[in-house]
Amino acid sequence: MNLTTSTDGHILGKVQCPGDKSISQRVLILGAFMNQDMVIDGFLHGEDPLSTMNALNQLGAGISTDADDRVYLCKRNKSFHNCKNALNLGNSGTGLRLMLGLTSGMGLKASFCGDESLSSRPMERVINPLAEMGASIRSSKGKLPISIASSKLKSQYTYELPIASAQVKSCILLAGLAAGTGIEIIEPIQTRDHTERMLKNFGANIETNSIDGKNIIKLKSSNNLNAKNYTVVGDISSAAFIIVAALISDSSGFEITNVGINPSRTGVLQALQKMGANIEIKNQRIESGEPCADLIIKKSKLRGIELSGTIIPNIIDEIPIISIAAAFADGETVIRDAKELRFKESDRLMAVSEGFTSLGIKHENFEDGISIQGAPNQLLVDQSISIESYGDHRIAMSFIIAGLKCSKPIIVRDCKNIFTSFPNFIELLSSIGYKLERQ
Ligand code: S3P
Repeated sequence: MNLTTSTDGHILGKVQCPGDKSISQRVLILGAFMNQDMVIDGFLHGEDPLSTMNALNQLGAGISTDADDRVYLCKRNKSFHNCKNALNLGNSGTGLRLMLGLTSGMGLKASFCGDESLSSRPMERVINPLAEMGASIRSSKGKLPISIASSKLKSQYTYELPIASAQVKSCILLAGLAAGTGIEIIEPIQTRDHTERMLKNFGANIETNSIDGKNIIKLKSSNNLNAKNYTVVGDISSAAFIIVAALISDSSGFEITNVGINPSRTGVLQALQKMGANIEIKNQRIESGEPCADLIIKKSKLRGIELSGTIIPNIIDEIPIISIAAAFADGETVIRDAKELRFKESDRLMAVSEGFTSLGIKHENFEDGISIQGAPNQLLVDQSISIESYGDHRIAMSFIIAGLKCSKPIIVRDCKNIFTSFPNFIELLSSIGYKLERQ
């Protein structure tokens, strides 16, 4: 599916932020593991959480949804079972890495596959620690297809994360929880802490301390979890596209309600505010252990900034759309320490650079980042410029937002994976005045 932008985008209005993808996946996995009655509201019905739901159901979880998009987990009288067919996690790195943790911890026998993008992504980062814990895993040179044989994990495991990754951290925590292994994780740089918060919310024996700038996360070997109904807050990574749209278009004021503002995810707000963005955070509240708020955004004059170091894992999913904001800011923005972007759904540093070249946006590439020469003006582009998204939802959505500042419609190619994280993106943009045409 290709999408063509339009040039009359004066966005205006108020929208509700779609559910958080990371939290939706985690609550399904933990909920299914707890095996108690539970209702989930605000769940993201995107393809990624749905592939995790299907995988859990193939193992016998019996998760269902109703016409109002609520999700129901019911107490089963059988525990999970092995599955002959491969569990297909589609495009979802989170789904695959977390499910590898859960199934290894439960001692199940299972095999895993995914789409072309997921099949090219590195999985040693979870295979190695799981194998150290005692899991028996086979892979194709550290990539999909992966199969695990039933095995028993050791009783205690300590791991210092060599890369800042919430997926790796969560995989080990879930494996430990399911196996009854006591876990100690040393996290040199803070990454999103939804798994820790959710475990605490359901009564797990987990604590996090900060020592010499590192997080030490300890999960005890025995846990008595109590399910309760759960409400998923909105996804700040999805809100980021609308925030930047409001900042760079001719919007006089815009509201996004129900945005998750967990401090391990709000680097995007700090970065944009440092660029000069006028973003008001109001109505702060806590929903199922996660902070959330409503945001008011006003068109702002942006300026270039430098982004590197410990903020990078916090904004890892927002760097493509921050790069678009930077392209329409005054002066230079430099992003470094972001090599992990090369291992996402696409090589995002390459994909952003290629799109910028097509649009005539001056930039320089580094192995671990990019520098962007921004200018606040409208971009004078030729008719029918075509930008390749490499099937990456965040690249596709970023360049669609850039289309708001283009003098002619642009075509963004291979946009189907927008449905993995933001299923109502096209309708939501249309409702605020930015029409896209599907081809
Ligand atoms: C996620 C963690 C991040 C992020 C991904 C979702 C999660 O990945 O990029 O979109 O839900 O834990 P890494 O942990 O690999 O950095």
